[in-house]
Amino acid sequence: LNKISIAIDGPAGAGKSTIAKLIARTMNLTYIDTGAMYRAITFKILRDRIDLSNEIKLLDFLNQTKIDIVNGEILLDDLLITEKLRTPEINHYVSNIAQIPIVRKKMVELQRRIAANHNVIMDGRDIGTTVLPNATHKFFITASIEERAQRRYNELCIKGFHQDLQEVQAEIEQRDKIDTERTISPLKKHENAILIDTTGMTIEEVTDKILSYIK
Ligand code: C5P
Repeated sequence: LNKISIAIDGPAGAGKSTIAKLIARTMNLTYIDTGAMYRAITFKILRDRIDLSNEIKLLDFLNQTKIDIVNGEILLDDLLITEKLRTPEINHYVSNIAQIPIVRKKMVELQRRIAANHNVIMDGRDIGTTVLPNATHKFFITASIEERAQRRYNELCIKGFHQDLQEVQAEIEQRDKIDTERTISPLKKHENAILIDTTGMTIEEVTDKILSYIK
């Protein structure tokens, strides 16, 4: 049986993880939220006050850090931390940490190792271009900046974080800028990826559209 691997890339707040989770459930695939992996590293770097300017110490730190994905949930050093990853503080720092070469190297290795053994749907920024260049299906999901900001704002409100909409929008724009302009595997649509602009679409409409391409 041929292995399935679905890559979903796109900017912040485009709805990638919501959609990917639903498709994973429908098609019985392993869902890998690569953004959550970068968030987990960021969480630990902030918690342990790791000095990012010392590359040897950082490498040591990375080698002593264990990240696993179990049923779509992130385990950091065997602790379940999914709930702690989508905070304003991590939003603020994650893109800076995700552009560090040795951080990316470690994450990409881990992502490829998981994909080698499972039928996966993986969402992120560089999945179609770098992590899984031979993915069986590639999508690039986006939406207007206003709509992406509104979605993130609603998500943060539900979690009890109070940031204004403008602040959320500025933070998303800043993150997209860093992600797009970084040297190593920047956010970019792979030429073969199917582009879906989800502005004004419901989650169900987007999911159905993607499923229609896969079948
Ligand atoms: O998808 P999410 O918003 O959780 O991603 C958080 C951050 O992690 C992104 O803004 C980006 O800096 C980084 N990231 C990345 N490569 C990926 C996934 C996420 O650099 N494949």
